[in-house]
Amino acid sequence: MSSIKKVAILTGGGDSSAINDYIRTIVILLEKQHIEVRGIQRSYKGLIEDDFTDLDCRIVNGISHTGGTCIKTSRTNPYKLEGAVDKIIKNIQKEKIDALICVGGNDTLGVALKLSNEGIKVVGVPQTIDNDILGTDHCMGFHSAVENIVKCTNMVTTSAYSHEREMIVEVMGRDSGFLALNSALALGADSLMIPEFPADLDSLADLIVRKRKAGKYHGLYIVAEGVQIKGAKQIQDDIDAFGHIKLGGISYAIAEIINSKINIKPNVTILGYTQRGGTPCPYDAYLSTVFARGTFNNLMEAKFGYMVAVVNEKPKNVPIADAVKDIRLVSKEDYDFAVSLGDVW
Ligand code: F6P
Repeated sequence: MSSIKKVAILTGGGDSSAINDYIRTIVILLEKQHIEVRGIQRSYKGLIEDDFTDLDCRIVNGISHTGGTCIKTSRTNPYKLEGAVDKIIKNIQKEKIDALICVGGNDTLGVALKLSNEGIKVVGVPQTIDNDILGTDHCMGFHSAVENIVKCTNMVTTSAYSHEREMIVEVMGRDSGFLALNSALALGADSLMIPEFPADLDSLADLIVRKRKAGKYHGLYIVAEGVQIKGAKQIQDDIDAFGHIKLGGISYAIAEIINSKINIKPNVTILGYTQRGGTPCPYDAYLSTVFARGTFNNLMEAKFGYMVAVVNEKPKNVPIADAVKDIRLVSKEDYDFAVSLGDVW
């Protein structure tokens, strides 16, 4: 049985839509056991700066379905800041925090693992629209992002039809193409390009020509921002605290290359932050309660150093070390399946 009296929670990395639903649920579960919950402002930044806020049932009442994170986020890497880890350990002792809940993607969970190795009692929760964390069927936020992509792209495809245009829609996805894959399948896209596999622009140009010859003068191509294109460079070069360059815009290079091959220039729409925003879809809101339930069980049973995964709709513990040892990628089989559905001309 656990002797936990006070828990702190932080949310790190890119935000998404179901985080507040998760926070509300875990606060309710813990308050019922008379366990105090503190929110840490701006991820590891607040932990370094001793910036905590109260979280109780009254405060979290009504935050569900609000999107984003009420305790804010940042991409702060304490292992890149001198003295920061010592400050974290001191602040955790000073605030009498018995356990730390870290909600986020690979970077946030990577730091959580290191803190766990320093002796801090940590529970990890996978949250990223990229859905690229090992060991879990779902990451919080992914399904809402797919829904946002599908809704926004449906608005683009009406113009594609009316104007007889080839439309590239660029979605997020730094290393993994799950957002692109699931939305391309849901939308019935003509093709997709994802970071896992080399983009073949000759085949894409050929597809457009064959399709037009067969009488279809509009098309939809979903591009993940992290796709590698031979001869093209990502246009942004800001680097975050975890060493990632800011992505977005590779589709313009793709459009130029296609134009140079067949004299047809696809239009480009970059969905950007529309994907991460707004209210969660019902499935994500539901999943957030499964993640909260798993977190609560771990706190009650004093199981630390684990990430709460969701496998077959049930919470399951995966050592954080296993979850972050690599990035989850789209399989060749799934990618080929999605490509083949578009190539029917
Ligand atoms: O955290 C995942 C993600 O959504 C990536 O797909 C994307 O590259 C990145 O966040 C962008 O985040 P930001 O611009 O907020 O740093």
